[in-house]
Amino acid sequence: MELFDTSKSILQEINLDSKFPNVRLLVKRDDLIHPEVSGNKWRKLKYNIELVQFQKKDGILTFGGAYSNHLLATAAACNLAGLKSIGIVRGEELDENSNENLKRCSELGMELKFVSREAYDSRNEKISQETWKEEYPFYLLVPEGGSNYYGMVGCQEIWKELPEQVDHLFVAQGTTTTSCGLLVGGSEHTKVHVVPVLKGFDSKAEMRKQLFPFLVDEETITESLNRVEVHSEAHFGGYGKWNDELLDFIDHCQKEYDLPLDKIYTGKAFYALMEWLKAQEFENPQTIIFIHTGGLMNG
Ligand SMILES: Cc1ncc(COP(=O)(O)O)c(C=O)c1O
Repeated sequence: MELFDTSKSILQEINLDSKFPNVRLLVKRDDLIHPEVSGNKWRKLKYNIELVQFQKKDGILTFGGAYSNHLLATAAACNLAGLKSIGIVRGEELDENSNENLKRCSELGMELKFVSREAYDSRNEKISQETWKEEYPFYLLVPEGGSNYYGMVGCQEIWKELPEQVDHLFVAQGTTTTSCGLLVGGSEHTKVHVVPVLKGFDSKAEMRKQLFPFLVDEETITESLNRVEVHSEAHFGGYGKWNDELLDFIDHCQKEYDLPLDKIYTGKAFYALMEWLKAQEFENPQTIIFIHTGGLMNG
């Protein structure tokens, strides 16, 4: 299999009933790209891996919690690319047998380094970054969640696989890397709907910070952000929280549409989409895209 083959990511048409006239809803199934490097992880890692290859470095050094899908995805992608990987893990009491996620990272060749919570929390400070770089000069440092410029460029590329005319696009939001990439890559006619899974998250302020290296001037950023609609009411209590209503909804989507969703990100984002849809009346045909960003490994 070619390393960055995304051909398994189909556009799945959702057959909505007649309550939703003039709506064509398609799900971009990035969760199907790869069993371990799924969804936006694949998109975010693509150009980071190419950079490592281009710079002839040994591999990627990155950061994550004990259950981090990003650590697993990095381990698997580096393994496929014939590169090394180092995972800096939050929690010095842990080891590679602490859970299935860490076990699998280790099996895939990732060297795991367990650090205290304090050391982990200062990972993005200049002094910490310099220390890691000095210690591992042949590794590219990639932030937690793959949230950097190259990650954003990879997410921007999803547009190459979408229909030309998209009226509305929905995506779950954590660090904003995926949604910012999609915003920058999309046409000015597309409304980008973001669904933060963190409670009290200021989506537009966070996106502004992330977009700055991309779009450079405040005016262009403001213009782009005018195309963003934030659905801040679908977090179900915050990150990693859910209730029976969300679980029933996920179950319904699986049975009714053959669409698997996770309860941390995509379930909440698709819920927001369906709630929004119920309140719309379209006079003209609309194409709506939901980006399935993966996350099914965490249930
Ligand atoms: C499954 C899934 N969906 C969505 C997101 C949110 O993406 P981002 O952090 O780029 O906003 C994440 C986090 O990386 C994720 O794991």
